[in-house]
Amino acid sequence: MDVKRIALFASGSGSNAQKIIDYFADNKLVEVNCLLSNKPDAFALERARKAGVDTLLFNREQFYHSTFVSDWLQERKIDLIVLAGFLWLVPENIVREFEILNIHPALLPQYGGKNMYGMNVHKAVLDNHEKISGITIHYVNEKYDDGAIIFQATCPVSYDDSPESLAEKIHALEHQYYPKIIEEIILKNH
Ligand code: GRF
Repeated sequence: MDVKRIALFASGSGSNAQKIIDYFADNKLVEVNCLLSNKPDAFALERARKAGVDTLLFNREQFYHSTFVSDWLQERKIDLIVLAGFLWLVPENIVREFEILNIHPALLPQYGGKNMYGMNVHKAVLDNHEKISGITIHYVNEKYDDGAIIFQATCPVSYDDSPESLAEKIHALEHQYYPKIIEEIILKNH
């Protein structure tokens, strides 16, 4: 059986990307083949380089008005794209050509959409006095946070949580579940 190849997309710190890279480091069936970013200073790029994972930086023009990124992924025979804190909407040509997963730091369909990322999500959850929040792993389509939901896990929100403390709880859940769900999906569907 041919090894299954993951391409990670990340715009930020990349703590999820790191967990995914570590999780598959010794896996014979699945490899993290590359990490792509739209941000030259994304710490995720540094994490990838350190782990010996190939990287690609691209700009808006290349992403939305050329096949530069999809050609690169096709050449590498990527089976699954995994978004891990990637903030741009994925263009239609890439959505059509690849299976793509995303993780969202709240319980979709609530608290999703264009400006619902990072601390905005946790602030909105706290402003609405929610008692629980959580994570959603879902397929990606051409809209923000809209594809079919694959997995959710919850955590309690306490009255004294700050956006930062809630973010910490959510990150812990993401790190616990995202690599495992990715493994299940890639082995099942490819
Ligand atoms: C995560 O909270 C994820 O849910 C969201 O972006 C954040 C990325 O965090 N999509 P990190 O860069 O992996 O630490």
